[in-house]
Amino acid sequence: MRIYCAKDYYHASRVAANIISAQVIMKPDCVLGLATGSTPIGTYEQLIRWYEKGDLDFSETHSINLDEYRGLQPDNEQSYRYFMNTHLFDHINIDKKNTYVPDGTQSDSEKACRDYDEIIRIHGGIDLQILGMGHNGHIGFNEPGSAFGKETHCVKLSESTISANARFFDSVDDVPKEAYTMGIKSIMQAKKIVVIVSGDSKKDIVKKAFLGPITPEVPASVLQLHNDVILVGDEAALSEYYKAVQ
Ligand code: F6R
Repeated sequence: MRIYCAKDYYHASRVAANIISAQVIMKPDCVLGLATGSTPIGTYEQLIRWYEKGDLDFSETHSINLDEYRGLQPDNEQSYRYFMNTHLFDHINIDKKNTYVPDGTQSDSEKACRDYDEIIRIHGGIDLQILGMGHNGHIGFNEPGSAFGKETHCVKLSESTISANARFFDSVDDVPKEAYTMGIKSIMQAKKIVVIVSGDSKKDIVKKAFLGPITPEVPASVLQLHNDVILVGDEAALSEYYKAVQ
């Protein structure tokens, strides 16, 4: 694993955006695996800036997002499709037909998951997967205890994830209780993975995930088994990791 320690969130976002840019420049028709959440927002803002300057062209790029709440319409402001449109896709020249987010409106969950795995497969897999990480070590919506062998599936969200995400909704009761997510197996099949972490609140889980035992209890710990992971973090998020390895 390679680690980039940035001095702050802004700098970490630029590093992550640089890696994505390199991928898009080297392989314009690449498949990007994208994440939502607060962490990648700065990265997406930086990509938009470089696109506006004329330095990036996403016209041939495809994207496949990690997850989506079950039951939310794409135009619901809390849906991950809406998030991706407003934070990235509306501002760059990616063809929206080439952007995929699980279909939260599909009530047949087996079909929704099967269709999504098929989308990943027909695109030849993900070239570069961007990940954030939850405070309990979740990646995508793969909560502690998730089997490592799963592809896209429907999950019940843990209480900690529901309360962490409640800040985006009017009340905790409005947070959907289920989601569709790429599984750990789908994530691990990406050719390259970039994990972005920021802030003091992530410092303990970063240490646990990358130095602790590899266990479904800390889903991100599986990333220790991937042969091409880059961890991009700010000093605050990486502080406990560095203390432990020094
Ligand atoms: C988002 C996702 C989640 C987030 C994680 C961290 O698509 O899959 O796993 O990456 O919850 O969220 P933030 O970045 O808000 O701390």
